[in-house]
Amino acid sequence: TGDVTLDTGFVNTASCSSKITFINGDTGILRYRGYPIEQLAEHSNFLEVSYLLIYGELPTQEQADAFDARLRRHTLLHEDLKLFFNGFPRDAHPMPVLSSAVSALSTFYQDSLDPFDPEEVEISTIRLLAKLPTIAAYAYKKSMGQPFLYPDNSLSIPENFLRMTFGFPAEPYEVDPEMVKALDLLLLLHADHEQNCSTSTVRLVGSSQANLFASVSAGINALFGPLHGGANQAVLEMLATLHETGQDPAEFMRKIKNKETNQRLMGFGHRVYKNYDPRAAIIKKTADEILGKLGADDPLLDIAMKLEEVALADDYFVERRLYPNVDFYTGLIYKAMGFPTKMFTVLFALGRLPGWIAQWREMIEDPATKIGRPRQIYIGEGARDFVPIAQR
Ligand code: CMC
Repeated sequence: TGDVTLDTGFVNTASCSSKITFINGDTGILRYRGYPIEQLAEHSNFLEVSYLLIYGELPTQEQADAFDARLRRHTLLHEDLKLFFNGFPRDAHPMPVLSSAVSALSTFYQDSLDPFDPEEVEISTIRLLAKLPTIAAYAYKKSMGQPFLYPDNSLSIPENFLRMTFGFPAEPYEVDPEMVKALDLLLLLHADHEQNCSTSTVRLVGSSQANLFASVSAGINALFGPLHGGANQAVLEMLATLHETGQDPAEFMRKIKNKETNQRLMGFGHRVYKNYDPRAAIIKKTADEILGKLGADDPLLDIAMKLEEVALADDYFVERRLYPNVDFYTGLIYKAMGFPTKMFTVLFALGRLPGWIAQWREMIEDPATKIGRPRQIYIGEGARDFVPIAQR
């Protein structure tokens, strides 16, 4: 196998050609379908960006309205799927609940599993986009021991999600426009990030011609890991520990740098960005403002800023070009919105969903797609003869 090159972690191996997302990690550029993330964050919204990623162009007003109306009609979960949530322990982490429920969608919608039938792909797309927020809200409700709320389709998808998460059946729920705006922005900033670990997982699973639900369920599991989407939860836990123990951030950093601990500075570093993550720059700029509007003055924000200040002036981080990534400041905003830490990665999944779908569809439509099947460098034993159990 002399023609095989070892590339652990796929640092330098492109697995596909894609028209969806462009990243220049050296200069910190991120564009969806050519549009700079900064412009989309300022002028667009999650609904439009989902449409853009999946269908390739920004929608006209008419297209946006039709897309929105279609999504609102599919928010309900099958009553039997609701029973599913009762099978998990009350303290279950919502991420495996989310991936299991998405996997189960293949059993409820057996009429739309053919990856090569455009109509089936389209209806699966709509079902997933519409139902994942309901699933996420039910995972939260289950963990709180609170009753589920049916979706109210007079509300937009993010409004409905907040209501189903924080509302109660017998009480009217006032949707706070500041919360909706903050959530919408965070979802938009997470919507795609080319061939990251979860997206590559979605593509790899899909390359075997597994259906969209099965592929996205696998992506959710990949996102759960602390080096990927799970980092937003890990950042907040790190900040909370520093706050509770009163440990000096500089001392904490010294231990990380000297590798006296196997901890990393969570929310720092990125495989592709060797410069400030442009999403983190937008979030940092808005974190203070959003926290102010949500009426939350969080001492953890000061600790985060202090850590960043120390890191950006430190040789260890400078030499390795480690900058804050998207996960560094998001948790503080989610916390201010009232989400418990274990919901943070679920929110990342809600945001990343249109990206996973767009990438899966691009993969299915690309005639160059082959089943994903990496090679290996074998370093095990040479040929040897079987030894009967009594002689081992
Ligand atoms: N804290 C301390 N040292 C770090 C960190 C960090 N956060 N990240 C990388 N390094 C060091 C690492 O120890 C290595 O140093 P050395 O050469 O002395 O051993 C060097 O920097 C290169 O690191 P690497 O592990 O080879 O880099 P990678 O591209 O394989 O990993 C990463 C990228 C994001 C997994 C990593 O930076 C990391 O673990 N960061 C913390 C977790 C995190 O915030 N993840 C979220 C990523 S962004 C959004 C997302 O995907 O969800």
